[in-house]
Amino acid sequence: MSSTALDTAALKQQFPLLQREINGTRLVYLDSANTSQKPAVVIDTMTNFLRNSYAPINRSAYQLAAEATDAYEGARTKVQQFINARRAHEVVFTKNATEALNLVAHSWGRANLQAGDVVVLTHMEHHANIVPWHMLVAERGIVLRWVPLTADGQLDLTTLAQLLDGAKVFSFTAMSNVLGTITPVQQLCAAAHAAGALAIVDGCQYVPHNVTDVQAWGADFMAFSSHKMCGPSGVGVLYGREALLEAMPPFLGGGNMIADVRLDGFTTAELPAKFEAGTPPITEVVGLGAAVDFLIGLGMANVRQHEIEVAGYALRTLTSRFGDDITLHGPTDTSVRGATFSLAFRGIHPHDLSQVLDQTNVCVRAGHHCAKPLMRLMGVAATARASFYLYNDTDDVDALADALDGASAIFGF
Ligand code: ALA
Repeated sequence: MSSTALDTAALKQQFPLLQREINGTRLVYLDSANTSQKPAVVIDTMTNFLRNSYAPINRSAYQLAAEATDAYEGARTKVQQFINARRAHEVVFTKNATEALNLVAHSWGRANLQAGDVVVLTHMEHHANIVPWHMLVAERGIVLRWVPLTADGQLDLTTLAQLLDGAKVFSFTAMSNVLGTITPVQQLCAAAHAAGALAIVDGCQYVPHNVTDVQAWGADFMAFSSHKMCGPSGVGVLYGREALLEAMPPFLGGGNMIADVRLDGFTTAELPAKFEAGTPPITEVVGLGAAVDFLIGLGMANVRQHEIEVAGYALRTLTSRFGDDITLHGPTDTSVRGATFSLAFRGIHPHDLSQVLDQTNVCVRAGHHCAKPLMRLMGVAATARASFYLYNDTDDVDALADALDGASAIFGF
């Protein structure tokens, strides 16, 4: 059943892959925190671009290249408006969000962080917002501090001021990929700034599901990926405040990012080319632009409202059907969570559970979800995770519940 905010029956029709049946059964795709499915408009825009307009960007004077450059730069403007950045050149296209976060740690970090400097992270980060900082611990001797969690999987902010005292950076997720928790981003950015630290937001899970406003947040940097928001894989975004990006050294060297190259050195291009070395993922950026148009067409406030309703229905349905036999990690208050649920069910190993659910085409991820420190804190090696998106509805929740019943039967409960 659809929600009050989105007509999912009509929406599902726009996603060719969701029409697919396996062994005569419909697909129930619940792995969108991992990667989302693509609407026909994104697939068609990319195909049409490849068939009719594909050419190098920013290099050649002929009309076709100008057309390709316009499509590429047009997508940048769409992304700028989607996240409410001040300027288009504050949007840098990367390979993915992981590369965007590595860009910040590598370029800003190596220019500004010395031994003993403090970077504050949270216990709910995924590896892309941990490992680049660990690399600076090993290379520079920086010090990491960790914001703890409450029992219901929210950030425990009681010691935040002490943790931020003397810190240079506070880098945190806007929404946990494991717990579904939405963090108070504006408050966290303000706390970082009050301590004289930069605020870096991992928007991977937040941006595809909510209205994003980097100016209202006061974020200094923000990273997210196209492939989790109905766009193609192979392109991610780094938002950075102009003054910070201007002052940073380049990340990767090569064509496109230079103003001049001589035998004795080089000078860098203006933003954003300075951070876009080599031929970029041209078609993928154009596809991301189509995904942004698609999401704007739905309205991000509607997407969020829809997911609040689906999350509420999932919480009610799964707890009423399975009681203490199911553990749904993370907050139960839908105002501070998205529709991503890590779960434990009747002691069945998450990998076994996901394989059994797959027998009825219910696709969930099992594993550590690229968040091993959080898994350790939760005292588990892995969870099964069902993550819902704009094309999922209450029927998909019911299908998950039925599949869990089926797993109970197989494992003899
Ligand atoms: N893509 C990873 C996930 O599934 C991080 O959450």
